[in-house]
Amino acid sequence: MANLISDMARSVGLPKLKSAAALLTKRLPIPQPLLWVGPGASGRLGQAIGDFAHQRVLIVTDAVIASLGLMAPLTDALTAAGTPFVVFDQITPDAPIPQIEAGIAVFTGQGCDAIIAFGGGSVIDAAKAIGLSAANGRHPRDLVGYFKGRHGPAPLYAVPTTAGTGSEVTVAAVISDPETGSKLLIADTRIVPDMAALDPCLMTGLPQAITAATGMDALTHAIEAYVGGWGTATTDRLALAAVALVYRYLPLAWRDGQDLQAREKMALASTYAGLAFTRANVGNVHAIAHQLGGKYHLPHGLANAIMLPGVLRFSLPATVTKLAALALRAGVGQAHEGTETLADRFLDSVEALNDSLGIPRLLDALREDDIPALAEAACWEADANYPVPRRMTQEACEALLRAVLPPKAPRTRAPRKTPKPAGNAAPASRAARPKVRR
Ligand SMILES: NC(=O)c1ccc[n+]([C@@H]2O[C@H](COP(=O)([O-])OP(=O)(O)OC[C@H]3O[C@@H](n4cnc5c(N)ncnc54)[C@H](O)[C@@H]3O)[C@@H](O)[C@H]2O)c1
Ligand SMILES: [Fe+2]
Repeated sequence: MANLISDMARSVGLPKLKSAAALLTKRLPIPQPLLWVGPGASGRLGQAIGDFAHQRVLIVTDAVIASLGLMAPLTDALTAAGTPFVVFDQITPDAPIPQIEAGIAVFTGQGCDAIIAFGGGSVIDAAKAIGLSAANGRHPRDLVGYFKGRHGPAPLYAVPTTAGTGSEVTVAAVISDPETGSKLLIADTRIVPDMAALDPCLMTGLPQAITAATGMDALTHAIEAYVGGWGTATTDRLALAAVALVYRYLPLAWRDGQDLQAREKMALASTYAGLAFTRANVGNVHAIAHQLGGKYHLPHGLANAIMLPGVLRFSLPATVTKLAALALRAGVGQAHEGTETLADRFLDSVEALNDSLGIPRLLDALREDDIPALAEAACWEADANYPVPRRMTQEACEALLRAVLPPKAPRTRAPRKTPKPAGNAAPASRAARPKVRR
């Protein structure tokens, strides 16, 4: 993909290429899956899939989900309908290519003719890649980019078990290449699932940290789709609805994981944000987060959440009016306040939301030496793909990364022979300091 875009950019110029892409994405027909929503939706999806009389369905999932027994309503419905299925539960976070290769082998080896993705974004994206690769007889690496491959995948159904990526409705599959430590994008309207179930009962066991990170991923999708340059009336409406839902229900789902209403609203927020960004695209936060995820294997939503406040402040000169509108929908300001005050309130509220969800302000994994290369790759990703409200230079991106770099640990000294009197004691080593800093 990078080669194709850089060749085209050299011949016609990046700004022209992006204007053409904007026109195209505004008009591109993007299919939308039939959605089953509410407690028990995954079983109802299973019944509907049963009606299609597939010869064998590949269920793609991960080992954690398989061990939790969450798939029973779906598999019971398939069994009742007489639809054979085989479970492949080897997907790990960020859909690494070797696991996708193994999934392709099961799909073809078992004579499958449909796929159900049952899991978080990593599982859904892996399933999309398995389907597209199998249909075209090509390696997933060859499908990286836009609209590669002659054929669409076999019928694809999705059951998200996290509320964040929106992958159940998007044209994207983000996979990872362990050989290069990078994340790769496959984009194709044919990989949007045919049907999906948003079932809050599957999300009640999500640990707090995953609830927080995935919820902030949904918020980032909605914000970046809204403040970027490719929004339409429809994507704006969806993005604003998603922001309102996240502000109201993410703290509730985080505090009480069993709150079914909050879980369902977060699942909807994730889907609405997915519908918004699959057309309007994302921006600088994602451009940076993808590099951090590839390099340090950070959860995607966590990387977004940590970068979001700084990137929003950086973009402020170009986004005051839009951030003011977001403040009103998020319920953190009043209409009579000026747009600048409202925009500030929204920026503060994002930081406060992160704090309330236990998301650190600094990124422990980040290393000063890595920053130039991370920034270069992030700027390239943003320049080549995203309709950002304010373009990041290399220096600006490095500064955004340095703003989340933990302070250097003080040198470890040899222990004193005579203990120092109590008082004025500073932590002597990195280990003595709290791991999560604010
Ligand atoms: N395709 C898209 O449009 C799109 C959009 C955003 C992000 N992504 C990609 O999606 C991936 C991240 O997906 P994610 O944030 O959903 O996380 P994930 O799928 O990587 O899952 C994170 C962890 O949560 C666990 N988990 C999932 N559901 C659970 C449940 N119900 N109960 C308990 N544990 C559960 C998983 O086993 C895993 O360990 C990244 O690779 C990211 O780049 C894709
Ligand atoms: Fe994301």
